[in-house]
Amino acid sequence: MVPLTSIRTSNGKLEIVNQLLLPHKTEFIDINTIEDAHDAIKTMKIRGAPAIASLAALSLSWHLSTAIETSALPEFFASPEAMKAHIEQILAFLFTARPTAVNLGAATRRLAQILQASVAAKKNTLDIAHDLIAEGNLIADEDIGRNKKMSKWGGDWLVRHVEGGGVSSTALNVLTVCNTGSLATSGYGTALGMITYLYETGKLGKAYYTQTAPYHQGSRLTALELQTLNIPSVMICDTMVGSLLQHHKIHAVIVGADRIARNGDTANKIGTYNAAVIAARHQIPFIVIAPISTVDLDIGDGSRIPIEHRPPIEACLARGILYPGVDGIPNQAVVMITPQNLDGVYNPSFDVTPADLITAIITEKGVAVRKEGQEIFDLSDIV
Ligand code: MRU
Repeated sequence: MVPLTSIRTSNGKLEIVNQLLLPHKTEFIDINTIEDAHDAIKTMKIRGAPAIASLAALSLSWHLSTAIETSALPEFFASPEAMKAHIEQILAFLFTARPTAVNLGAATRRLAQILQASVAAKKNTLDIAHDLIAEGNLIADEDIGRNKKMSKWGGDWLVRHVEGGGVSSTALNVLTVCNTGSLATSGYGTALGMITYLYETGKLGKAYYTQTAPYHQGSRLTALELQTLNIPSVMICDTMVGSLLQHHKIHAVIVGADRIARNGDTANKIGTYNAAVIAARHQIPFIVIAPISTVDLDIGDGSRIPIEHRPPIEACLARGILYPGVDGIPNQAVVMITPQNLDGVYNPSFDVTPADLITAIITEKGVAVRKEGQEIFDLSDIV
């Protein structure tokens, strides 16, 4: 089984899979410029908090490697100071591609710090470029390792938690939202990584996932990932979470995150808050799993997390193939599912789940469990 991937750097190219065409068509597109990377992130050709940070970082590495290979570096940058000004502009531009996921800002800040330190150390433009290329590649590469670590922390914790309640942990049923697997990260995934770990260790019963309208990351991407991994799974519509939790034994809801505030309030894909409220009603553990770079200690609580509102038209469209296809050939289609020119459309891409609805937050450093009677988290041990 070849895991799906969102970014490819082989063949002397930087490419991404166009996620707008999945699951019916796998088409790689070249990312040749910083503008290409910005556009791909903004238009959702690549999405998922860690994956967009990786692409932003790699696009800078790519930009600089190309300048070195084509001997254009001296023309581009007359001096380290000129180079600093130019790269700061690039990083500021990349940062504007999407606002909610903190990973993008964390990556651009990290690169800005390397730039600052290398210029302060009086390095020449070639050495500064090499420092930035190395850091950009590291940002993308380190993601898989930490995903595996946090998935193990989370999976082992859930098994202990369930067994502590006197329940067998051999067939755990879990619900997730959105897409948090190898397509949303550099590999293995966050919430989907934890689900994969439960499957690999023989603890998973079924993975339920919501379709996740309006972009359908669940039915288009999570469905494909689970199928590729041979993980037993069941899709539900977003409106069915309450029914599922009423009528089926679900041991945990497991979600990723785009930004976690200091108190544990968590921004994630729209619909996550609904699932958390219903999980609390049914006393089902609600678990958030994300890398340390998703925790934003500068933000005290969720009210200060910027929430991206996507263009209204996106909530009026569905993407897919014409079924059963014209002349047996599946045709890609974007269809309108509403009357044209609706009066109003509310289309926030994310919502914030308050910390008091979250049972545990997991990073690559470990598991923070909200203490009995407390409404907020102490994240100091896991960041
Ligand atoms: O709008 P998207 O598809 O980029 O949103 C993605 C999510 O909300 C994921 O759940 C989140 O990034 C965590 S992924 C590892």
